[in-house]
Amino acid sequence: MKRKMILAMALAMILAIGCSAGYAAGGIDYLALVNKLHSLPENWEEALETVKITNSVGDEVEVEKKAYDAYLLLKDDLEKNDGIYLELDSARRSVAAQQEIMDRYIEKYGADYAAKTVATPGYSEHHTGLALDLYFKIRNEDGAFTDVYYNEDMTKPEYDGIWEKIHAKLADYGFILRYLKDKEHLTGYGYEPWHIRYIDDAEKAKEIMAQPGMTLEVYLGAVKDPGLTVDYGTSDLYTRKDLEEAAVQVKCKFASFDGCELHSLRYAGDGCNTEENLRRMNALDEGKGYTQVVEFVSDFHSPVNPEKDPSWEPDTEYTDYEWWLARKADGGWQLLTWGYQ
Ligand code: DAL
Ligand code: ZN
Repeated sequence: MKRKMILAMALAMILAIGCSAGYAAGGIDYLALVNKLHSLPENWEEALETVKITNSVGDEVEVEKKAYDAYLLLKDDLEKNDGIYLELDSARRSVAAQQEIMDRYIEKYGADYAAKTVATPGYSEHHTGLALDLYFKIRNEDGAFTDVYYNEDMTKPEYDGIWEKIHAKLADYGFILRYLKDKEHLTGYGYEPWHIRYIDDAEKAKEIMAQPGMTLEVYLGAVKDPGLTVDYGTSDLYTRKDLEEAAVQVKCKFASFDGCELHSLRYAGDGCNTEENLRRMNALDEGKGYTQVVEFVSDFHSPVNPEKDPSWEPDTEYTDYEWWLARKADGGWQLLTWGYQ
């Protein structure tokens, strides 16, 4: 009898410790934040349960179990009601697999595109098994299917309507869209219509998706969004698209300024594209042969307690903080230096 009581007490203690460690019934925290500043939580792998499937192009994809069940319901709904045929490109990735992707992207698209598109190994939400990269099939007139698979194809304007229909149904199944347009300074990445995140709670997902521009970072209180104004001014040298692409680079970098809040970003004007500035950029990154320069300036507020980066003056408004990018006329922007020059 005594032994039984001791055993029961021990069991109760183990359960209490388990609960206080914050592990949900499924063994993982479905609201865990993994981004440029937050790595995969410790012991994640031990608690993670996954399934492996083969997609329409013959690749094996590993997904967290509940996220996969929810994905199947979403897929079924879209097929039956919208004629959209979802597929999974990638979900859970090991740190080594993330490194391979990073290397491939740098090789194929260049370092700047890779930096705004692929997470540093160890800091990818894909390590959780809860992030799913979608692609879709479209039915041709002859009834056969075509895979719309590559990023550059999936982002063609002709598919905007398909993504809208997909995004409209995510929350019903406990998913959110993770990398939103114009929120790169909060998420750290450019817009990805295909990257969805399972949070295992349709009500919370609906709350997030119902608020335009709401990111998981802000929802969880990890960062504040003071509202960002971007002023592209006027330019005779660059198109609006050129300047928007440069601003995305800046914003993606800003997301790693822990605790800082960006509220204004401005193109400094065509006067920045001088021979002297070009020489300065080419000296920073020799052998690249940059031919064009842009400068942006920003205003942001530093954290009240900058424990993680004590180089910030606490609780201070930084104004006209500079960001310099360069490119060859036929290449993408490289962010080369930032700060007061
Ligand atoms: N594409 C997302 C950012 C990743 O690599 O995790
Ligand atoms: Zn992804």
